[in-house]
Amino acid sequence: MAYSLEDFCVDARGILLKSDNSSGREMIRQKLELLLCDPAFCAAYLGPDSALGMQQVFQDPKLHFCVLTYNMTKQRTSPPHDHGNSWAIYGQISHYTDMTIWSAVSDELENTQIKPVSTFRLQPGQAGLFDVHEIHSIDYPSDAKFVRVTGVDMAAESRRVFDVDTGTVRKIEQVGTDSSR
Ligand SMILES: [Fe+2]
Repeated sequence: MAYSLEDFCVDARGILLKSDNSSGREMIRQKLELLLCDPAFCAAYLGPDSALGMQQVFQDPKLHFCVLTYNMTKQRTSPPHDHGNSWAIYGQISHYTDMTIWSAVSDELENTQIKPVSTFRLQPGQAGLFDVHEIHSIDYPSDAKFVRVTGVDMAAESRRVFDVDTGTVRKIEQVGTDSSR
């Protein structure tokens, strides 16, 4: 049975109204995996004739969670980053995305060292949750297609981006774009 974008947004809204916490976000992750299998959703937003790049396809008017689609032509490895006070769920449509989770330790001078703690690959049909302040990086090949759901509009959310080589962290303020992904 088809599970539409509208179905997903109704379910996500209902879950967040009851459980805006880690267990609720895990329920949304499972719902996103249903949406990833919906042929009409994939054809409409991530088909061969769909617009390239990122599109925001939904923003909840009251709770402000967002659904974005990524129809990417070029390979990309993102820097480690978080989404500030927002959570994020990534769901794969085609190809794959390699996910790395990082841990951070700050010293008394507020220098932040990070190290990778686990990696996993999202295959088509699979979704992965990164909770509030969880540091992650993503790596996908050219022509990868995926969906991302965020707790808020990331264009208005401050977040951290880490440089592993220099051991520095940048705080990205509300810039209106989300180049870190
Ligand atoms: Fe991210």
